[in-house]
Amino acid sequence: MLKLAIILGSTRPGRKGEAVARWVYDIAKSRGDSEVELVDIKDFDLPLLDEPAPPSMGQYIHPHTKRWSEKIDAFDAFVFVTPEYNRGPSGALKNAIDFLYREWNNKAAGFVGYGSAGGTRAVEQLRLVMGELQVADVRAQVMLSLFTDFENFSVFAPGPRQEKSVNAMLDQVNAWGGALKPLRMK
Ligand SMILES: Cc1cc2nc3c(=O)[nH]c(=O)nc-3n(C[C@H](O)[C@H](O)[C@H](O)COP(=O)(O)O)c2cc1C
Repeated sequence: MLKLAIILGSTRPGRKGEAVARWVYDIAKSRGDSEVELVDIKDFDLPLLDEPAPPSMGQYIHPHTKRWSEKIDAFDAFVFVTPEYNRGPSGALKNAIDFLYREWNNKAAGFVGYGSAGGTRAVEQLRLVMGELQVADVRAQVMLSLFTDFENFSVFAPGPRQEKSVNAMLDQVNAWGGALKPLRMK
């Protein structure tokens, strides 16, 4: 079975991202078509990128990088759960992505964004980043609005169509994650 990581990209105390990522995780798990894990970047205590060599060389010297590398390396596909901060993804998520290179290559990814504009601008920026990392990002994406998917802009209460949009995104992530397997074996 495909190994799928739901990557929780916000680290802020009181973050809404945790409820969102758990909801995505539960939907993915209930499908039974992937081995799914919730990966919280907060648990990895990554500082601002502090590796002397470019990540594409894979010459990591710090234990925190080696631990993060081992974790990400184990997956075939990813769902990035990202808030929108100043029209982009969180700095913490971008930093965590920048730490690695080969571990992301030839894998598939989907996005769940949230914010006042459904996190769409954050996801657009992440799609550019995926190109450099040789990640196949799928078309279907989940856009959660602070106005309609959170009560009083705070308590997560996804609208009725949102579960369907998660499943549409996961269908594509699983298909592409599987299709790229031969490239990952080289
Ligand atoms: C530093 C910062 C910048 C933000 N900028 C935007 C923005 O540009 N667009 C938007 O839709 N929401 C913006 N927001 C609102 C966040 O999307 C919203 O607070 C969301 O809950 C943040 O995710 P988190 O709770 O998981 O940290 C911003 C929030 C913060 C903290």
